[in-house]
Amino acid sequence: MPHFFGYQEVDATEKTARVRDVFSKVAGKYDVMNDFMSVGVHRLWKRQFVRRINPRAAHKILDVAGGTGDISFLVYDTSGGADITVSDINPEMLQVGQARAADHGLVGKLRWAEANAETLPFEDNSFDIYTIAFGLRNVTHIDQALREAFRVLKPGGKFYCLEFSKPVIAPLRKFYDAYSFNVIPKLGEIVAKDRDSYQYLVESIRQFPHQQGLKIRLEDAGFKNVTFENLSAGIAAIHCGVKI
Ligand SMILES: C[S@@+](CC[C@H](N)C(=O)[O-])C[C@H]1O[C@@H](n2cnc3c(N)ncnc32)[C@H](O)[C@@H]1O
Repeated sequence: MPHFFGYQEVDATEKTARVRDVFSKVAGKYDVMNDFMSVGVHRLWKRQFVRRINPRAAHKILDVAGGTGDISFLVYDTSGGADITVSDINPEMLQVGQARAADHGLVGKLRWAEANAETLPFEDNSFDIYTIAFGLRNVTHIDQALREAFRVLKPGGKFYCLEFSKPVIAPLRKFYDAYSFNVIPKLGEIVAKDRDSYQYLVESIRQFPHQQGLKIRLEDAGFKNVTFENLSAGIAAIHCGVKI
């Protein structure tokens, strides 16, 4: 199966290395860029994601590709202190996350783990909830990551993914494409001094499976009751599945 870094066909090793390089480079500007690019809308999507998860203090939760911690911080606050592990392949993103956790008064409240979503260093059947937000698109072997998600969840455990998807309204698609390809790389150049990483971002969104395609991949990994919910008319979507 071919692998893509944005629109470029690359081998698996190169994809992993180049994605790692992207996030090492953008880590320091990652959060401010999210606000600029989405004019703050990513915060609303993340809140809706966590509302849907409906976490409780008794839950053991794994936030994969957790990056600088947005989802874990919201989950912690909403749940009233769940046992959360933030994991990510990239140490620079985790470092920014740990510094932000200190600013949020969350020192010592979260576990942190450097880990690849494809080879998680956790026991079988050990989490109630698995989350991955804007992470799956960047993983080299998506199906392997989904099988790992299934493995580490307890029976009855739930999988939640928040990811860019396909806008379902045609006129919106045109506007969205124009904005993505013209504005976002430019913003990357001005704000993060890194046009290429943001060009990768918009291309990687187009290469990622759409709503129905991701649903099938989740079912193939073993998940049941797979559903999805479009956000902002499908610019992003939340997928959910259960390990029965
Ligand atoms: C767009 S950021 C999302 C961060 C955070 N979840 C959020 O919503 O703001 C994508 C993250 O995926 C991580 N990542 C990429 N490939 C990964 C892999 N194979 N395993 C784990 N994390 C990965 C990157 O290091 C980066 O931190």
